[in-house]
Amino acid sequence: MTDMIVADHLVKDFGQKRAVDNVSLTVKRGEVLGFLGPNGAGKSTTMKMLTGFLRPSAGRASIAGYDVATAAMSARKVLGYLPEGAPLYPDMTPWSLLHFCAEVRNLPSDLRQKRIIESIERTNLQSVVMQPIDTLSKGFKRRVGLAQALLHDPEVLILDEPTDGLDPNQKHEVRELIREIAPNKAIIISTHILEEVDAICSRAVIIADGKVIADGAPGQLAERSPLFNALSVVLPNEKVSQALSILEAQDQVQEVRSQTLADGLIKLIVVPVRGKLILSIVTNCLSEEKLDIVSIRPEATALEDLFRQLTVSSDKREAA
Ligand SMILES: Nc1ncnc2c1ncn2[C@@H]1O[C@H](COP(=O)(O)OP(=O)(O)O)[C@@H](O)[C@H]1O
Ligand SMILES: [Mg+2]
Repeated sequence: MTDMIVADHLVKDFGQKRAVDNVSLTVKRGEVLGFLGPNGAGKSTTMKMLTGFLRPSAGRASIAGYDVATAAMSARKVLGYLPEGAPLYPDMTPWSLLHFCAEVRNLPSDLRQKRIIESIERTNLQSVVMQPIDTLSKGFKRRVGLAQALLHDPEVLILDEPTDGLDPNQKHEVRELIREIAPNKAIIISTHILEEVDAICSRAVIIADGKVIADGAPGQLAERSPLFNALSVVLPNEKVSQALSILEAQDQVQEVRSQTLADGLIKLIVVPVRGKLILSIVTNCLSEEKLDIVSIRPEATALEDLFRQLTVSSDKREAA
């Protein structure tokens, strides 16, 4: 099967600054790749090169087998792109913008109206279709961009922070939409929201300082963090020392970290010895004592933890 999206050793220099440093990746049909990295890591620049909007300093990109430099028109036909920031043409309404895009894309006239209405419905723009884009909230502007990207029902989608500026309900809707259309498409989304990666991505690529520093299924990446399979135990402050001495005495517990919560509660993060499952041990040893435990649940921040470990040094360099 052809790789639908290919970045082949992409490099981009802005003057002295190497914004993208030898990035290679491929995405097949049915895959949703989450492109992760701190601000300034090079996500948007990579996406602009993948879509042919920015010429690489070195390397190549192709979409559905079409080189974006030498077969740009064919590549763009199968590609939907949501750029960073707000859509162009702020004086237009979503309705007129989508008509304009349909014309530029040369959609057959009998299909045009249908596709426009479909993408308005999919992105829930009904209430604002006749309002100038300029006057819309950030969330609506983002969704106009998304409607434009989906308009021709492309096989490949490159979405630069599709949920940026959306409220939690809208984020949920956009994730549902991506999940729904994903089986027949190849998709890249950039994000710095890690729960988004867990929710919709089959693969995650982390970049920092323009370089790919991790590539794998979200679960596999999470496994690399010490917090993989860790538990969080919430209990009242006055019970913490008792709980700590019990937990730290367990062979399969590597370490216990604590965080102060509101209302006199403390969260203990119980980190297992690598590869161990500690739910039953922890539940049993704590339930023998009267510790007034509020909750015991999986600590779901392993991917976030890995992300911080891998990228924090580049953040510091940026700040220096
Ligand atoms: N047109 C440009 N001119 C100069 N530097 C740029 C330009 N675009 C991006 N950069 C720099 O390249 C780096 C990567 O930016 P970007 O790709 O936007 O990162 P991200 O999308 O991951 O936040 C940043 O340091 C940014 O300041
Ligand atoms: Mg960006």
